[in-house]
Amino acid sequence: MLAEAKSDENKFNRALSAKNLIALGIGAIIGTGIFVLTGTAAANYAGPSIMLSFVFSALGCVFAGLAYAEFSSMIPIAGSAYTYAYATLGEFLAWIIGWDLILEYLFASSTVAVGWSGYFVSFMKDLGINIPHELCSAPFNHVIGQGWENTGSILNFPAVLLVLLITGLLIIGIRESSRFNAVIVFIKLLVILLFIGFGISYIHPENWTPFIPENTGAFGHFGVSGIFTGAGVIFFAYIGFDALSTAAQETKNPARDMPKGILWSLVICTILYVAVAAVLTGIVNYKDLNVPAPIALAIDRTGDALIWLRPLIKIGALAGLSSVVLVMLMAQPRIFYTMAKDGLLPSAFTVTHKRFKTPYITTLVTGAFAAVIAGIFPIGVLGELVSIGTLLAFVIVCAGVIILRKTDPNAVRPFKTPMVPLFPILGMLICLAQMAALPLDTWIRLFAWMAIGMLIYYFYGRKKSHVYLNNNSK
Ligand code: ALA
Repeated sequence: MLAEAKSDENKFNRALSAKNLIALGIGAIIGTGIFVLTGTAAANYAGPSIMLSFVFSALGCVFAGLAYAEFSSMIPIAGSAYTYAYATLGEFLAWIIGWDLILEYLFASSTVAVGWSGYFVSFMKDLGINIPHELCSAPFNHVIGQGWENTGSILNFPAVLLVLLITGLLIIGIRESSRFNAVIVFIKLLVILLFIGFGISYIHPENWTPFIPENTGAFGHFGVSGIFTGAGVIFFAYIGFDALSTAAQETKNPARDMPKGILWSLVICTILYVAVAAVLTGIVNYKDLNVPAPIALAIDRTGDALIWLRPLIKIGALAGLSSVVLVMLMAQPRIFYTMAKDGLLPSAFTVTHKRFKTPYITTLVTGAFAAVIAGIFPIGVLGELVSIGTLLAFVIVCAGVIILRKTDPNAVRPFKTPMVPLFPILGMLICLAQMAALPLDTWIRLFAWMAIGMLIYYFYGRKKSHVYLNNNSK
């Protein structure tokens, strides 16, 4: 793998510094989680104690982030957790994690597109254009304890259009230049800081009591267990820092800068998230927060005082969410590409467009699936599925660090996770706790997804993999 990276050396421009990485990280991290899911998680699971959910979830991410930092400095190859598993745990587990990463990147792009749609509809409404409900929401909804119901809607058209548009841009080779990303990050941060700075004076502290609303009798519905379920849901808000690791080959000094990029972007986002959660639940009672655009609702609740902030928040959210969709839709085809190069997916997936020089087949496949998913499923179901899939990836990466320290103790590790095995074990436990707190339905969907993946491996990848073919040609 390292030899492969060396032969790729001239294909990449080692241009990124730690600062660029932090900006990229914030660009990929801040999105639907904070702009949308905080509201539903507070309303359904944790109330004001969603602030604690953010802290708990961040801890798990920091421990996992250290493991990513170790691997990305050791094996600086795009492919992320799939590559690390391939190097440490073998082909089968690598396939499993690669299949699992689809839940992270492909499904996350759909989730964020649904979040974008919520803000888009509300922005159009402000301009006097009412998009009918049937054309901008999911035709299916899942009610806990009651199952799936038909909402009467046709399709979430804005979400589908956004995914298709970004897919098109990625095919013709749009590159998220450092400068474009910096502008988006600046807008996102500005909007969030304005919300915190101006919103603070409209907080009604009585909205924070009870800080941990009483449990309703069901696990995860408020009470202490609600904090963990809330963490499992808003964990989504932190996803993206791991996508940084795919930029290792473009980083000037990955050993020094990758850990900085991963950890600083996490720290900055954690502080912002806890502050936003505090202001949000302080302005609006948590019971009213089950809406697609909670921050916009909070602005409305301040009366006319912050009316000027309303369009800015929406423009910030729209710009910010589209950059997250872009990063996710860019990362997924890269992982498919790496898997296809190992023979685990059809070789057509390694084809790049002659003129545009982009992996257009994988981009098209990713975009088509992401568009359909964004069009028909509600955000809550999607967000939870993405969270459980990513948490599983983090658990495996943490385990990978411990395993590789045992199986190959002398390998060169430019960055070492401190306190091994304690830190990776803590990372695994916190991620597993968040997984455990997610609804049973989400677990069933995860198992169903993994079962499909195993069948594909059994009938396809196992016999087509380059390892298998090389062994059998000797
Ligand atoms: N962390 C990203 C978001 O919240 C995926 O949209």
